[in-house]
Amino acid sequence: DETVVRRDRFAGGPARSFLSSLADDERIFAADLAVDRAHVVMLEEQDVVDRETVGEILAALDDVEEAGHGELPDGEDVHEAIESAVIDRVGPEGGKMHTARSRNDEVAACIRYRLREDILELVETVVGARERLLDVAREEAETVMPGYTHLQPAQPTTVAHWVLSYEQALQRDTARLLDAYERVNQNPLGSAAFAGTPFDVDRERTAELLGFDSVVENSMDASATRDFLVEVTSAVATLATTLSGLAEDVVVMASKGHVELDDDYASTSSIMPQKKNPDTLELVRGRTGDATAGLNGLLTNLKGQPRAYNRDLQRAGRHAWDAIDSVTESVEVAAGAVATAEWPAETLAAAATEGFATATGVADLLAMAGVPFRTAHEVVAEVAAGLGPEEDAPDYEAISAVAEDVLGDPLSQFVDREAVEAALDPTESVAMRDSRGGPAPEAVADQLSVAEEVLAGH
Ligand code: ARG
Repeated sequence: DETVVRRDRFAGGPARSFLSSLADDERIFAADLAVDRAHVVMLEEQDVVDRETVGEILAALDDVEEAGHGELPDGEDVHEAIESAVIDRVGPEGGKMHTARSRNDEVAACIRYRLREDILELVETVVGARERLLDVAREEAETVMPGYTHLQPAQPTTVAHWVLSYEQALQRDTARLLDAYERVNQNPLGSAAFAGTPFDVDRERTAELLGFDSVVENSMDASATRDFLVEVTSAVATLATTLSGLAEDVVVMASKGHVELDDDYASTSSIMPQKKNPDTLELVRGRTGDATAGLNGLLTNLKGQPRAYNRDLQRAGRHAWDAIDSVTESVEVAAGAVATAEWPAETLAAAATEGFATATGVADLLAMAGVPFRTAHEVVAEVAAGLGPEEDAPDYEAISAVAEDVLGDPLSQFVDREAVEAALDPTESVAMRDSRGGPAPEAVADQLSVAEEVLAGH
C-alpha cells in the first residue's frame, strides 16, 4: 500500500516529535471533524465519492469524535491522525475522504472555524465587562474623584466619567473583533494544496455547511495566508492595552486609598501582615505582554513566507490562541475587580482638591466674564505659585488680591464671591463642566444612555 510506504519513508525519525503538531492540534480537533464531514458530504453530492463510502466515513468520524482527541493514532498532525483513524475503521475506502483536498486547505479551514468560536466567546466576555462598567457608572455618577494628567493632579472628575472612558474604548475593541470576524469567516476549503483540484468541488456548499459567509476566492491565497490571524491578534493586543490602562489606574488608586478592592480581587504578602495588594490588576497589566508577544510572534512567523504553503504556518496559530486565552481571562478579572470595588466618596472628594486641581475652573470663570483666557490663566497661575507647601487651594481673598493686582480692577467687577467659591469646590467644579462628553452628572447621563444603546446592539 503506497500510503504506508510513503508514511514509513517520511516517518520523521529523530525529528518525528519536532514535526508533529498533534498535541497542539487538540484545539482544532472538533473543527477538523466538522471540516471532514462537510467535505465528504459535498464529495457525495458532487458524485465524487459514493454514498455508501461517505456513510461509512461519517460513521467513523462519529466514532472518532466519541473516542476523543486523546485516543487518536499517532500522526504528524490531527488531520493525518483522524484520517488514519477513519481508515482503521472503514478500510482503504476511508482514504477517499482526502480526495480533492490537502492538509493545507484543511488546516486553514480548521483554524478559521475554531477562531470564530474564540472571537465570539471573547466578544461576549467583553460585552459582559462593559455591562459591569456601565453599572459602576450608574452607581458612581456623582462620586467626585481627582483626575490626573502626567499623574499630576489636574481637574476633578467623577468615577462614572472615568469608567465610561474605558467602556468607550472597549466598545471599539468589540467592534474591531467583530470586524476581524467577518474576514475570518470565509471558506478556504476546496483550494487543495494551493493549486485547486480537477474534481468538481462545490466550495459554496462546504462554506454553507460550515457556516462560512463566503469563499476565499484565489486558491493560493486561501491555503497560504494568515493575515486573518494577524487582524484578530492585533485586536486582542489592542484590547489588552485598553485593559492595562484600566488596571494601572486602579493600581495607582489603590496605592492612594482612592479605591478599596474586594478581598476576592486582592492578594496579600507572605511576610508583611498588613498588606492588601492589587495583584489581580497587576496580572491584567502583565498579561498585555502575552497579547503583544502573540502579535509579534505571529508577524515574525509570517514575515517573508513565500507562496504557497510552508510548514512555518504550523507555528502561527498558537500565537493567536495564547493571546486570546490570556486576554479573555483578563477581561473578566479586570471587570470583576472594578465592579466589586468600593469608591470612598469622602476620601475621593478631599483628594480632588489636592494640588489646586480646581484652578482651571477659576480661570474659566474669569474668561467667561470677558477676561482673555491667557490673562485669566496668568492670574490663577500666580495664585497657584503663591500657595504654601501644605496648602491645597487658595481662598477667595488670595485670588482676589492677585486678580486685582494683575487686572487692575477688583475681582468683584468680574465675578462674585459665590461663583469663585463654587469653582473652588470639586463637586461644583465637576457640575460646571457639562459640555458634551464631560464629567457633569447630566453629561455623564447622556453618555450612559448612548453607551447603553450601543451595548444593546453590541
Ligand atoms: N499541521 C500542518 C499545519 O498546521 C498541516 C499542513 C501540513 N501540510 C504540509 N504540506 N506539510 O500547518
